[in-house]
Amino acid sequence: MKVVVAGKGGCGKSTVSTLLAKALAKRGSKVLVIDTDESNLGLHKHLGLTRPEDFMNYFGGKKVLFERVKAIQKRWGMDELPPEYLAEKGNLKLMAMGKIYDFGEGCACPINALSSRFLEILELKDDEFLIADTDAGIEHLGRGVERGCDLILVVVDPSQESIGLANRIAAMAKSIDKPVYYILNKTDSKTEALLLEALDGSRVIAAVPQDERILQYGLEGRELAFNVEGIEELTDFLCGLKNQAEAPVDS
Ligand SMILES: Nc1ncnc2c1ncn2[C@@H]1O[C@H](COP(=O)(O)OP(=O)(O)OP(=O)(O)O)[C@@H](O)[C@H]1O
Ligand SMILES: [Mg+2]
Repeated sequence: MKVVVAGKGGCGKSTVSTLLAKALAKRGSKVLVIDTDESNLGLHKHLGLTRPEDFMNYFGGKKVLFERVKAIQKRWGMDELPPEYLAEKGNLKLMAMGKIYDFGEGCACPINALSSRFLEILELKDDEFLIADTDAGIEHLGRGVERGCDLILVVVDPSQESIGLANRIAAMAKSIDKPVYYILNKTDSKTEALLLEALDGSRVIAAVPQDERILQYGLEGRELAFNVEGIEELTDFLCGLKNQAEAPVDS
């Protein structure tokens, strides 16, 4: 199952991607996290991994990326990915599509193109998950990155902008026939109730409360190696959906 994690800037996409990936790996699934955010550099720290080399360099770097991505025909299995572009530990792998490093070097479009194509060409086995941690906001949807995914998970924090973005993502996803679910983040009982009122409640899977440890570990750049409320529910839900999709249809 290929899951894209989306949402407003700072809502908790990287945190939720990390905690979900770790929970799935702990249950025995093989998990590939792809970092499609061209700005932030710290996802590997949340996961307790080293920083992998940018995958865009496999194709010759950002300047030639557009053309090279268009030419990709090969389909990859998770075990066939070039190991020099992976950071891994146990069932968990991390790949970073590319970053912006220099003043005036240009836009992130080639990196988005690679993310988009990669989501399409990666072939997963039954026990494998891909979690794509995206950059803030909606640009990646405008660029069609989600075309190859099975499901969009929107992280919603207690803010008007987050609610508005969740609704817009749901509308866009409808046009490409992709299921959208929400995970509430940084909530307490009051804000959770307000979010449930404001959102389409049938899409809400779970709520992750405001948690001091997440803030502290994030600030210190430490691995998020602890259980957090809401993540088991989210993991159960996604595993249940995957099992349903794989169940043989009675004739
Ligand atoms: N449930 C939570 N409780 C407390 N702090 C949290 C929680 N979730 C995330 N944070 C904190 O909020 C900040 C933003 O989180 P995170 O980096 O995961 O968001 P993001 O959506 O990936 O951001 P960006 O849009 O920059 O990629 C971090 O400081 C993180 O530690
Ligand atoms: Mg992030």
